Amino acid sequence: MKIEAVLRRSHPVIKHFLRQSGLSLQRKIIGKIAASCNRMSSNARNGGEEGTIMNGSSLMTEVLLITPLAKYLPNWSAVEDPMVSYFENFQQWPQDAVQNLKRGADFLSSPKPHLVAFPTETVYGLGADATRWGCVRRIYWAKNRPADNPLIVHIASLKQLSDLTGKPLPAIYEPLVKKFWPGPLTIILPLPNPSPFAPEVNNNLKTFGVRMPATPLARLLVALSGKPIAAPSANTSKRPSTTTAQHVLEDLNGRVDVILDGGPCGVGVESTVVDGTCDPPAILRPGGIGIEDVRALGGEWKKTVVGYNDVKKHEDANGVGPRAPGMKYKHYAPKGAVYLIPAGTPESDVEHTLRQKLQKTASPAHLTIGLIRTSGSWSKWLRCEADPLNTNGLFQPMQASTIFPAAEGIYGHLDDSNFRFYDMQLGPSVEAVAQDIFAALRACDELSCDLIMIEALREGVSAEANALTIAVMNRLRKATMG
Ligand code: TXA
Ligand code: MG
Repeated sequence: MKIEAVLRRSHPVIKHFLRQSGLSLQRKIIGKIAASCNRMSSNARNGGEEGTIMNGSSLMTEVLLITPLAKYLPNWSAVEDPMVSYFENFQQWPQDAVQNLKRGADFLSSPKPHLVAFPTETVYGLGADATRWGCVRRIYWAKNRPADNPLIVHIASLKQLSDLTGKPLPAIYEPLVKKFWPGPLTIILPLPNPSPFAPEVNNNLKTFGVRMPATPLARLLVALSGKPIAAPSANTSKRPSTTTAQHVLEDLNGRVDVILDGGPCGVGVESTVVDGTCDPPAILRPGGIGIEDVRALGGEWKKTVVGYNDVKKHEDANGVGPRAPGMKYKHYAPKGAVYLIPAGTPESDVEHTLRQKLQKTASPAHLTIGLIRTSGSWSKWLRCEADPLNTNGLFQPMQASTIFPAAEGIYGHLDDSNFRFYDMQLGPSVEAVAQDIFAALRACDELSCDLIMIEALREGVSAEANALTIAVMNRLRKATMG
């Protein structure tokens, strides 16, 4: 049995203790031990030649810290090439972190098909050389990703992009890229003929998605590798995206060669995907850059429409699916049943709903409930310490972030021997909710929550709504879809 799995199954209190006593280091060690044990049972690592798809967990995953480098890297503008700064300055940077980043880059450019997970400002990416099919196929294998869901290519500089396409950027994209790159924006471009990418990158589409991440660590990694890097979110398909190296390890240990640990991601939800190759232009996936931000660019962009549907499951009445293939899949889903409670619902109604759901459950006494609060308007435990849920009223407040250090603001549990109630407060700012929402959904899995009640964000009139609010609600609706 994998050591990781044993750890994951251990009681939350043991895990709490482990976390308090320096979890991230222990995790790294445990990850390495577990991965080496896996490796001992398989010698497939060296069988990883181009084109070989491996079965089962068989790589040794290294977790390498690059966070200390972050404060030395400037926020290069879109027209700058990170390599110039690198050549000028790397000797003054912390050498361990430089070597770790270089190791990640070497893996990406090595003749063998390697995978490297790395931090971006949105979520962690699972990267591989986009030009080689053996590398790209391995991404699908590691994530268990449906074959028809194309990948986003990550680039370090505009020059790298024009070298790949052999053309200048289409004129319509100039204002968009000028304003939002580097940043949480993916643009859809016509696929050059012949394509510089492995066919698995764009899966028979005549277009490809590309983005220049804002995180200097990610940009420098791509630049050092000298390759365009295909990178979906670094999670197992259908699970919430990953926003810490620890979450990547949980999902992909033994399936990725290197995880570069650059600390928690800043934005927390994936990039906005924008298609300007069609008329009118469309937002294919909502993210931190909103439709109003795009429309404000004027010209053709004024006509931008919403090209996704987060209310319906797969197809509209005419059998037409979403234009970003990834948007049709169930996503972001923890194992427990998720209930989205409308914003502004009074606390007493939430408690009433909870009671009703408990009544319908066969053995409510053994249930574990996760409550994810976002606005700060409901009180902790919905005041359940007053024993309205037939618990003993045991109330053990814990300090913020002692249970989940990666997700500040997640804390505490109400516990008796039969019944557990975990409370997580993410807000009140929408930025804070976005940053920790995936961590909270993952925490619900770790805590084996059977029932997860989430306080929806207030969306308001949609045109005026905050872009991140729309993006978070899009992910939460998908988490509730069966
Ligand atoms: O923030 C992000 O975008 C992260 C980080 C790692 O960069 N990446 C990410 O990748 O979220 P992924 O693979 O999880 O989501 C990519 C989305 C999918 O919904 C996919 O269907 C869509 O982009 N997509 C990719 N290429 C496309 C294309 N040519 N046309 C339409 N949609 C495309
Ligand atoms: Mg994804």
